Amino acid sequence: MKREFKPNSNRIESNIEELAKIGKVGESGVRRFVFTPEEMKAREYVIDLMKQAELQVKVDAAGNIIGKRLRCSDTSLPSVMVGSHIDTPILGGKYDGTVGVLGAIESVRLLNQHSVTTRHPIEVVVFAGEELARFGVCFKGSFGMVGLLTEELMREVKDSDGVSYWDAMLKVGLNPEDYESARREPETVKCYLEMHIEQGRVLEEASKQICIVQAIAGASRGLATFHGLADHAGATSMNLRKDALAAAAEVVLCLEKYSQQEAHLGSVGTVGALNVEPGSMNIVPGKVTMSLEIRGVDLASKKRVIANLNRKILEVSTRREMKIETEWSEDSDPTPVPQHMIKLIEGVCLELGIDYLIMPSGAGHDAGFMARITDMGMIFVPSVKGISHAPDEYTRIEDISLGTELLTNVLLRLAEEVTDF
Ligand code: HGY
Ligand code: MN
Ligand code: MN
Repeated sequence: MKREFKPNSNRIESNIEELAKIGKVGESGVRRFVFTPEEMKAREYVIDLMKQAELQVKVDAAGNIIGKRLRCSDTSLPSVMVGSHIDTPILGGKYDGTVGVLGAIESVRLLNQHSVTTRHPIEVVVFAGEELARFGVCFKGSFGMVGLLTEELMREVKDSDGVSYWDAMLKVGLNPEDYESARREPETVKCYLEMHIEQGRVLEEASKQICIVQAIAGASRGLATFHGLADHAGATSMNLRKDALAAAAEVVLCLEKYSQQEAHLGSVGTVGALNVEPGSMNIVPGKVTMSLEIRGVDLASKKRVIANLNRKILEVSTRREMKIETEWSEDSDPTPVPQHMIKLIEGVCLELGIDYLIMPSGAGHDAGFMARITDMGMIFVPSVKGISHAPDEYTRIEDISLGTELLTNVLLRLAEEVTDF
């Protein structure tokens, strides 16, 4: 009789609800910045679930939680890693990241329930600091695992209280001095899998429950600073002004225009944060600092948006005789998912009779950096109305369960079940 790995939906749902209580804001919002007291509490909760699932748990020097499943024929073989993150954006929902972590733990429970032994060990990973909330850069934990984390970065990035990532790690008992020991050599990892909410509307509009990700968008992030003149708003005639906000507004609208011109290739551009100084109704804005974010799954298209933006900034600066500085802090290329991983996940979908679509991810994920040391694969489950990074984020438990069933079967395929053990 064909064995089925049917997730326990109630168990997953209660885990999601329990986790969402930690860092709860309002009705359904969640705020859990990395290494804050609420995130540390969430870590304890997840570590407890991992231990109950018979995982051997440790926290690496980059702050990643790693639970290793020892029911395998040889624990020294390269691991099949699976996971996501539990930290949130500035005000997030219950599902971004947590679906991948709790789904991975449920997969391990199902393998345990069926007394499955695999050839390769399985490692469940909770990456530290996936979101850019608190420190302004994403993926700090997976950076640590793939060798991109540096002491300079950890000391440089600071939160709104001026606490550096380095000091925040010290405060929670981690030793950032050892961060290099978190680096995983490629030969210790067979592959990495991540289940995640789509965070867009495509699955919902296509009435599909599963997406197999074919590429992860690359992101360029930076700051533009407009140096105008803070003058009296009543006594300064229009032709004598150097209005930093008016200049910035031109650039914001042009970023939108250039991104719309490239939208058919999946490029997007956003000014998500903008600060006006001195910020008073009766003073001409003297200085504006604004964020710049351009993402894309087509490298040439993403580069065209950035080139057009830089040209526009130069034109505005010259015409308005205003100094405009740009500083780019991140620049990652789109990451394709290896074809054989897509084919393997597709094959399992066909065996299970799961309908699916294949598309790129506009959102960034730790999987995009794990690709630097191993083969990665991602599956998405739908976001209702495409809402994410917001309290109304919602994914149906039946979709999470189906995704978890698929994840478990793909995990089993990759970790290779052994029967004569
Ligand atoms: O911004 C992102 O794509 C992810 O949520 N860190
Ligand atoms: Mn996110
Ligand atoms: Mn996420």
